[in-house]
Amino acid sequence: MKSRRSFLQKLTAGIAVPTLLGINSASASTTSKVDNSLEGEEFWAELRKSFPLTKDRVYMNNGTFGPAPNSVLEALNRSLTKINTSGEYGNSDQERVKLADYLGIKPTELSLTHNTTEGINIMAWGLPLQAGDEVILTKHEHAGSGLPWLNRAKLHGIVLKTFEPSDTQEKNLEIIKNLVTSKTKVIGIPHVTCTTGLVFPIKEISEFARGKNIYTAIDGAHGAGSFDLNLKELGCDFYAGCYHKWMLGPSGTGFLYVKEELLDELQAIQIGGHTDSGWDITLNPPVFNGYVESAHRYDYGTQSKSLFVGVAAATDFHLKIGKAKIESRIRELNEYLYQGLTGLKDKIEILTPSEPQSRISLISFRPKNMGYQELGNSLAKAGFRIRQVPEGGVNAIRVSTHIYNSKEEIDNFLIVTKGLLA
Ligand SMILES: Cc1ncc(COP(=O)(O)O)c(C=O)c1O
Repeated sequence: MKSRRSFLQKLTAGIAVPTLLGINSASASTTSKVDNSLEGEEFWAELRKSFPLTKDRVYMNNGTFGPAPNSVLEALNRSLTKINTSGEYGNSDQERVKLADYLGIKPTELSLTHNTTEGINIMAWGLPLQAGDEVILTKHEHAGSGLPWLNRAKLHGIVLKTFEPSDTQEKNLEIIKNLVTSKTKVIGIPHVTCTTGLVFPIKEISEFARGKNIYTAIDGAHGAGSFDLNLKELGCDFYAGCYHKWMLGPSGTGFLYVKEELLDELQAIQIGGHTDSGWDITLNPPVFNGYVESAHRYDYGTQSKSLFVGVAAATDFHLKIGKAKIESRIRELNEYLYQGLTGLKDKIEILTPSEPQSRISLISFRPKNMGYQELGNSLAKAGFRIRQVPEGGVNAIRVSTHIYNSKEEIDNFLIVTKGLLA
């Protein structure tokens, strides 16, 4: 800690960086109060007190993991204690209703999973595809989406057609349209790429795909909790997401949206308790009546009710602030950082598109005069938790900011980055 401070003091000599160095002094609240009587920076500074997130460093890696506010941790702990003292383990039916409502879908269209990757695997394996059928993906897939589709290609001979994303929504829509052939069955792209934070126009892509009888199976790892998301309005067929990034819920919680009319087209490959509408293995021959009439057919067996109680609390937290207000703050911080990084353009290449609709919560850049890992490691030593991005060969530093971040933290990040690049 001592060496980081002197390091920062050296880098920022003559420049006031009060909050970064005095960050230990603020005391954390034990509840998550949302004081809507406050406005602007004051509102967000007050809200920061709802997060027990350490103040010993600046956390700018929400794109990987979103630290939960106190109300989520408290709900999670309360539920764990209640279940383990009463022995009544319950189920997540009640939470499923709230979570579906938050996404603008029916509870029967929501499968509760453990992460985005699980939802993508359900889509990649459940869709009725044959050898030679084509699936469109980007060259910037996360392992959690690239690998499930590659696995199906390896084992079943489907063909993956990949493309390098461009820098505007219009161009990306055009690229996708041009890749479609009579064999295209699925567009399996991310809503937001993990590499540069590029936002695809999912609504327009879904509209186009619908007209061609192509499934839209979207990787929504970065969708819920950042966008003012309504999946019905977005119009895609399937959307796999998680609650442990922008929703700020407990780790190991995810979801899969399956449009009602496609329940019987997306095969449930892995099933078990709660997925069936009746079975009897004592009969000869044994009887299986098929699946439940809901997306519950894709999630099976014992799950942690407490984790989804935590997700429901995260949902309440978002709703208290307001989904639109959260999106607007995320975009405001993103723009603030983008403008700041633009000032360092002789030293870095910004890989995230400048078009506002093509970005929301992540910004990636590559230093021109040093390796991205060297810069990444130095930033880490200076107390900034960012992510290094080797995926897609982008070799960049990725910064992601959420509602608990402040403009002062971004200022400090820019000062330190400039110093390291000098
Ligand atoms: C675009 C994208 N897709 C998929 C994943 C995998 O998400 P999960 O860890 O929830 O499976 C990530 C995780 O960072 C991601 O960024």
